[in-house]
Amino acid sequence: MDHHPRRMRDTDHQLHRRSGGHGQHRVLDLDAEVFGDSLAAVLDLTGVPAARSVVDLGAGTGAGSRLLRDRYPDATVTCVDNDPQMLELLREQGFAVVEADLDDGFPALAGSLITADAVAEAPVDLVWASSSLHHVANPARLLSGARRALAPGGILVVVELAALPRFLSHPRAALLEQRCHAAAAAEGWNHHPNWTPVIEAAGFGVTRSEVTTIAPVTPAAGEYARQWFSRFSHLAALTGADRDAVEELLERFSDIELEPRASRTVWVATPE
Ligand SMILES: C[S@@+](CC[C@H](N)C(=O)[O-])C[C@H]1O[C@@H](n2cnc3c(N)ncnc32)[C@H](O)[C@@H]1O
Repeated sequence: MDHHPRRMRDTDHQLHRRSGGHGQHRVLDLDAEVFGDSLAAVLDLTGVPAARSVVDLGAGTGAGSRLLRDRYPDATVTCVDNDPQMLELLREQGFAVVEADLDDGFPALAGSLITADAVAEAPVDLVWASSSLHHVANPARLLSGARRALAPGGILVVVELAALPRFLSHPRAALLEQRCHAAAAAEGWNHHPNWTPVIEAAGFGVTRSEVTTIAPVTPAAGEYARQWFSRFSHLAALTGADRDAVEELLERFSDIELEPRASRTVWVATPE
């Protein structure tokens, strides 16, 4: 892996124009493409050698589900989400898909199956929730349900972005990026607590760690970085001067030195 900052290639700009208006699914796919190694590293931490039944809570476009399917080829990977667009993308990839609102707690898996022949049924060997728990209205209830669904020896893995991904390496640009992150935090982006006490209260023993990935500079990394800065440019909490600087940065983005980095916090929990 190339860890050195490099200029993006011209193709980045073309790629961005081609991809047009992006939805959330494009962002999730870019994250998987650019920082997929970090999720693989997360899975290494879990120490689960084999699994037959895996559930991905808030599966999105399937970044985690694909990884889980690759790692446990004999397992049924059941994807849970409440977004029809995500559910369709998951279904197209051949996953067992359950449409459920996680605000209501851990879903009755077989009962709400909308596709595929096989679906995981409790007991579940591995429950995976990546960048999804902070969306849920009642995490304690969901986690208690997950605890009940787990097989003896099963584990729960919760993953969150420790911070928004960083892309810029030049010190002045990196400071601008830091201020963008502060403005985003002021608007509640990626807001989540330390889940340790919540997971413990649901009946788990838990270890918390952090995984950092430095990704190579690829067209996808360039597109992903540009997406973040496009979003930052709309932040109300950004000062006028910083908004101008972000817009100026976006105009000459193909000349910007990148060093894509992402850190994820991982909670690996076992029932007590
Ligand atoms: C940030 S995405 C993470 C997707 C995926 N886990 C990943 O790591 O790429 C959060 C996902 O959780 C889903 N989600 C959010 N709230 C939900 C809820 N109450 N019930 C079910 N799914 C929910 C969203 O639809 C979205 O697909």
